[in-house]
Amino acid sequence: MTPQNFDVKDLTLAGVGRERIDWAYREMPVLKLIRARFAKEKPLRGVRISGCLHITTETANLGLTLQAGGAELVLCASNPLSTQDDVAAALVEFAIPTNAIKGEDDATYYRHIMTALDNKPQVTIDDGADLVSTVHTRRTDLIPNVLGGAEETTTGVIRLRAMAAKGDLKYPMIAVNDADTKHLFDNRYGTGQSTIDGIIRATNILFAGKNVVVCGYGWTGRGVSLRARGMGAHVIVIETIPVRALEAVMEGYTVMPLLEAAKIGDIFITVTGDKNVIDRHHFEAMKDGAIMANSGHFNSEINIPALEEMSTGKRRFRDYVDEYTLADGRRLFLLGEGRLINLAAAEGHPASVMDMSFANQALVAEYIVKNQGKLDVKVHDVPQEIDTEVARLKLQAMGVRIDTLTPEQQKYLSSWEEGT
Ligand SMILES: NC(=O)c1ccc[n+]([C@@H]2O[C@H](COP(=O)([O-])OP(=O)(O)OC[C@H]3O[C@@H](n4cnc5c(N)ncnc54)[C@H](O)[C@@H]3O)[C@@H](O)[C@H]2O)c1
Repeated sequence: MTPQNFDVKDLTLAGVGRERIDWAYREMPVLKLIRARFAKEKPLRGVRISGCLHITTETANLGLTLQAGGAELVLCASNPLSTQDDVAAALVEFAIPTNAIKGEDDATYYRHIMTALDNKPQVTIDDGADLVSTVHTRRTDLIPNVLGGAEETTTGVIRLRAMAAKGDLKYPMIAVNDADTKHLFDNRYGTGQSTIDGIIRATNILFAGKNVVVCGYGWTGRGVSLRARGMGAHVIVIETIPVRALEAVMEGYTVMPLLEAAKIGDIFITVTGDKNVIDRHHFEAMKDGAIMANSGHFNSEINIPALEEMSTGKRRFRDYVDEYTLADGRRLFLLGEGRLINLAAAEGHPASVMDMSFANQALVAEYIVKNQGKLDVKVHDVPQEIDTEVARLKLQAMGVRIDTLTPEQQKYLSSWEEGT
């Protein structure tokens, strides 16, 4: 490893990071099986991969799996506040150059992306599409050598689809987020649990009896609502899509416009992937002491510049809690600077769920390399065989057995002739 291509906070943290990476690995049996096969078969031998991912214990285990497969991997953070500095240090010790420092400013964040791209990737792995968008804007020289890329999250897939629709996408991408074994579990159960975890670690607040306003009832919103209700909160859902709003109503949640909910909410959580969801007129209506957190990908869901403008005072109350005082004396609290709270104030998703997301990532990297030159330049779904295999292995690891269709049933289910 050249000493120039990593940048972490403190290499002496590596020992702690290694222990925590090992702890997470215990809960990642699917990735473990893939790593064992990769170590034998080396399907990524000599393949240069750049990854822009949250630098967490689970990501470290993905990195070690790609490395076991023979990849030459360089990592950078996909969010300035999500890096676990001990993990970043451990990754460097594992000879995976990592560029990530928790709390880095925007200039450092983008410098780190450029360093990851200096690896001249043949495969890119993104969480939010910052790497792929940088390749397409500032490092177009790299495009001819990129075989393909993988995208981890909803927001990234939305950006990629927009690029493809405009004809701007220049290499094939695979929407790992859209695999069933990713979003049905990671977005729902992972974000559901870890978002509440982040809010509690930041505030130590009791959810029971609180009015919790969840903005967005997609996969993450469903999970956050479910877990907040499980802790005794009264959950109010905010949506713009009628079918999703209806689903929330039928699940037993209260649904109303945000401006109405603003008056009664104790805790507001955004998980929309949209911008300025909580805006100036909502701040104006909020109760004294209202708490706001975001778990969507970017820190754009709460209009922080407007909040800053409206405030006469701001102070850091405790770690990850900023108090904004408005002209009329009301105080509003913003957690984790509006960045995804589960990664800023807690540890992100539990390893057991990232096991499936990252099993998809590892198998998709292998798929891109195996199918080089054959994939059209567009956003592809994860092949069904990979999705099914990840679910099968996860069930096996959990000791859960399921039935199989009989030949008679298979025939019945693929025919139309038989009726009543
Ligand atoms: N924190 C994490 O670890 C984590 C994990 C997975 C996904 N994410 C991110 O969370 C965000 C949501 O992901 P998802 O998979 O739930 O997406 P999704 O598309 O399934 O759901 C988003 C929902 O928000 C709704 N919405 C959009 N604008 C709105 C508005 N102004 N008011 C109310 N509702 C609005 C949409 O109608 C949609 O139903 C994305 O940014 C994604 O990248 C974060």
